[in-house]
Amino acid sequence: MSENILVIGSCGQLGTELVESLRKIYGDANVIASDIRQSDDAIFKQGPFETLDILDKNKLSEILTQYKPTQVYHLAALLSATAEAKPKLGWTLNMDGLFNVLDAAIDFKIGKVYWPSSIAVFGPNTPVNNTPQNCVMDPNTIYGISKQAGERYCEYYFQKRGVDVRSIRYPGLIGYKSAPGGGTTDYAVSIYHDALTAGKHNCFLSENTELPMLYMPDALKATLDIMHAPADKIKIRSSYNLSGMSFAPKEITKAIQKYIPEFTTEYNPDKRQAIADSWPNSIDDAEARQDWGWQPSYNLDTMTKDMLVNLAPTYGKTLSL
Ligand code: SER
Repeated sequence: MSENILVIGSCGQLGTELVESLRKIYGDANVIASDIRQSDDAIFKQGPFETLDILDKNKLSEILTQYKPTQVYHLAALLSATAEAKPKLGWTLNMDGLFNVLDAAIDFKIGKVYWPSSIAVFGPNTPVNNTPQNCVMDPNTIYGISKQAGERYCEYYFQKRGVDVRSIRYPGLIGYKSAPGGGTTDYAVSIYHDALTAGKHNCFLSENTELPMLYMPDALKATLDIMHAPADKIKIRSSYNLSGMSFAPKEITKAIQKYIPEFTTEYNPDKRQAIADSWPNSIDDAEARQDWGWQPSYNLDTMTKDMLVNLAPTYGKTLSL
């Protein structure tokens, strides 16, 4: 059967790269990008784009009627720091957006739905090191609470309503092709831009704040792998733990200094420190490895090299590391 794929929230950090990957696999015309507004990225000119506020159920229905997608990737959400600043909007967008998509999956017989969860589902009483799939989860951010509730909803819709919904608890995502927005892990993206421009980074987290992170090529691989796996391999229908690497700001600084020795970081923790402090240091992803063969390819050093080499031309520089 030929696939027709709708990506909701396609202009964000993950969506931009996912649309590119999906269009390579399924063809430009078969991947419908949609977001509340279109970004300038060239990928969105290569195939269909629809303006969609995911809280607008009628517009969603129109798009589903027109394109009849077989799969939907629902990525639209407010991330941790933004949702703390706008809690009502964070809750409404993150929850009602998901309900609209899950209900539409039933009404329009959508074959598969992808919805991202996050390490933000964990909280202060969660074991911080090698956090297991199942443990105490007491998220204390609006974003984390919405993702945890969303996980329960996804599992419920799978068990009770038969929706084939699949999900990953992403760590912080790091990439050079698209900009992040409103996340607590975003320093780990801007630090590379600063290394190539100002030569110094002002970090909003303290130097020893270790967080789980994932390089974008690995995030794309995981997302496509879980969506391509046979349904019976997906044993967890809330959301899978997923691990790539873990590091603190002082370690990523060191990794950059290996290639740019004069680079420095200053630490001025702000409100985001409390959010980071409530999240795990590292994640145990045994289930993802066992159920659908997950394995990351990048570590801090190989990611750093790749980020610097690929970002350098943006700033008129060439690096061969
Ligand atoms: N990267 C996200 C954030 O920092 C976590 O899922 O909000």
